[in-house]
Amino acid sequence: MTHATSRIPGFYQLLPHERLDKVIEIAGLEDEARGHFNDFGNIPAASADAMIENVIGTFNLPIGVATNLIIDGAEQLVPMATEESSVVAAVCNAARQCRDSGGFYTDTSEPVMIAQIQLVDVPNPEFARLRLLSKVERIKQVCDATDPVLLQHGGGFRDMEVRVLEDMLIVHLLVDVRDAMGANAVNTMAEAVAPLLAEWTGGKSRLRILSNLADRRLARARATWTLEAIGGEAVRDGMISAYRFADIDPYRAATHNKGIMNGISAVVLASGNDTRAVEAGAHAYASRSGRYRSLTHWEVGEEGNLTGTLEIPMPVGLVGGATRSHPTARQCLNILGVQTADRLARIIAAVGLAQNFAAMKALATTGIQKGHMALHAKNIALMAGAESDEIDKVAALLVEGGRVRFDIAEQLLATLRSQPS
Ligand code: MEV
Repeated sequence: MTHATSRIPGFYQLLPHERLDKVIEIAGLEDEARGHFNDFGNIPAASADAMIENVIGTFNLPIGVATNLIIDGAEQLVPMATEESSVVAAVCNAARQCRDSGGFYTDTSEPVMIAQIQLVDVPNPEFARLRLLSKVERIKQVCDATDPVLLQHGGGFRDMEVRVLEDMLIVHLLVDVRDAMGANAVNTMAEAVAPLLAEWTGGKSRLRILSNLADRRLARARATWTLEAIGGEAVRDGMISAYRFADIDPYRAATHNKGIMNGISAVVLASGNDTRAVEAGAHAYASRSGRYRSLTHWEVGEEGNLTGTLEIPMPVGLVGGATRSHPTARQCLNILGVQTADRLARIIAAVGLAQNFAAMKALATTGIQKGHMALHAKNIALMAGAESDEIDKVAALLVEGGRVRFDIAEQLLATLRSQPS
């Protein structure tokens, strides 16, 4: 079915419930849709309406809390927002198995983001490059003047790189953004300085925007799992072989890294940060050698233990955007108890490593389906219409039967309901 029209003049100026009325009418929805969308849950309608355009409602996701993590010697609870079963459990399991070896140790670079300015029609790009490099002090002044608050917090312009790419001159401003994600700060700087760069090079400025390949803002996590904790050498070797597969084959690396991002994006989202920025940076960073590879590295350490490391761009902040305006993000940050974006970045890296450990271990041993089954079965039971205690009953029967399918769940539910309670 197509819609009678998608042209709704003035739609953006309406209140959320007025927009909803229009959508219900055009999409021909039942009345229950009105009650559903009008329940904004724990985001006030006015906040949601201020966050994005053309709002009609909100979208809830479960938040699970990952337990068992020790990060740099401190116990850490981590809220994760995701629709995918097994993701939270995976982190809990991986973290439990490395507690004896001290948990996760993390590190970060300075929180430096990159803004790019594209200059075109530069007559002599190599000459212009050196000319710009000689003006770095002036460029720093112009950039820093745009953000006195960032300067007060110890951030600001740090350096500049100028690259000649074919007939273009690409200027990188390297900016320490402290506790911000930094997109606004660096974009403002790029726009402020671009006219001067154009003048000095004799070219024209075109794009002025941050790079999501935030390879100057890295978070690192490492951990050791003892042979005893993981169940012996065969498991370890299976996991290392799984890692090597990901490192040499982009088809496998995409899935392997997706698993890492299952954990990472869930914390990034719960903290109100930009999941797409972190994902874009991660995948671009995974390709930095010219081939798309594993974001993690796994090795045999002392006494035959398994060691894992993850290094990943982590452009997350604690000020600005949804980290402040989304009430659930604020509460999740309260659970995390983080005072700096640096600690948040470290936690997220640890979660990514934990996630990868759990996925590789499951894949190298029992296979992924076994662990997935229990929760997947609950989802299928829910989809088949099971309610309250029926959900667990139908899910248990599905797992027992070894076939987790919607049609079987429907049959099981019908049988269950036909039996006298
Ligand atoms: C599923 O969302 C994630 C995994 O496919 C990751 C992996 O294969 O490493 C299990």
